[in-house]
Amino acid sequence: MTTAPYYADDLVTLYHGKAEEVMGEWVNGLANPDFGQIIVTSPPYNMGLTPGGNGRGMYRPGGNNKGGRFRDGYANHDDAMPQDEYDAWQRDCLGLMWELIPSDGAIYYNHKQRVEHGIVRIPLGLQFGLPLRQIITWDRGTGIGVNRRHYAGVAEWVFLFAKPDFKLRDHSASGAGDVWRLGMAREDYGHPAPFPVGLPAKAIDTSGARSVLDPFAGTGTTLVAAKEAGVRGIGIEKSEHYCEMAARRLAQDVLPLGVAA
Ligand SMILES: C[S@@+](CC[C@H](N)C(=O)[O-])C[C@H]1O[C@@H](n2cnc3c(N)ncnc32)[C@H](O)[C@@H]1O
Repeated sequence: MTTAPYYADDLVTLYHGKAEEVMGEWVNGLANPDFGQIIVTSPPYNMGLTPGGNGRGMYRPGGNNKGGRFRDGYANHDDAMPQDEYDAWQRDCLGLMWELIPSDGAIYYNHKQRVEHGIVRIPLGLQFGLPLRQIITWDRGTGIGVNRRHYAGVAEWVFLFAKPDFKLRDHSASGAGDVWRLGMAREDYGHPAPFPVGLPAKAIDTSGARSVLDPFAGTGTTLVAAKEAGVRGIGIEKSEHYCEMAARRLAQDVLPLGVAA
């Protein structure tokens, strides 16, 4: 394997790189035997978030400064790709994830639908190329885009793709149901689109996973959940800025924005 860890401790390892390239190395080399029994991840949604917010996409800065923390986009990812290109990229990434997980593994893939300029955009047109076991709804509790034109969108999806031997931890874990009322990420580490620690924590807990990979790790939320659960966590993140934030968060060297020391 050629990509060196950006951060590592007893339980978690974070790689700075592109998910497709790093996972491609692992699939080809199979040098690392533990890539994660489950994968919990949230890719960029191709919502038009451009670094710095340059006027493309649905969250372009307007005169009224709507768009909140989305308006500046990601640190270095252009989230306004041609839709076909985006869908092909994500299908390739899902294919690599599928090759990495073992026969009792599963992928929890968070995404959301949206209506943009009168057209519904369903993640990858629901053509994932993988066997779908279940769709879980994540209830964020509150939504973005609160205005009088429509109801605020509070629901996101978690697509569960599972290998044949994947089972939940036990019967009681099934009682978690397929609507997870987790709210939004409460802590702000300067990322436009984090999920709450509760989301990967619930996936790890209910699956009884031995290890977890997040190839779009952002500020390391899945790795924080892995550490808290005492299981192995592996992350990949393209932006060095977010890697740095994740590393400091994992080393407990940084407080969320707005929290006094
Ligand atoms: C929706 S965010 C994930 C946020 C994360 N769940 C958290 O709680 O912080 C998607 C992340 O994917 C990263 N990203 C974009 N392209 C990538 C690529 N090719 N490989 C790895 N990460 C990438 C972005 O920088 C962004 O941090």
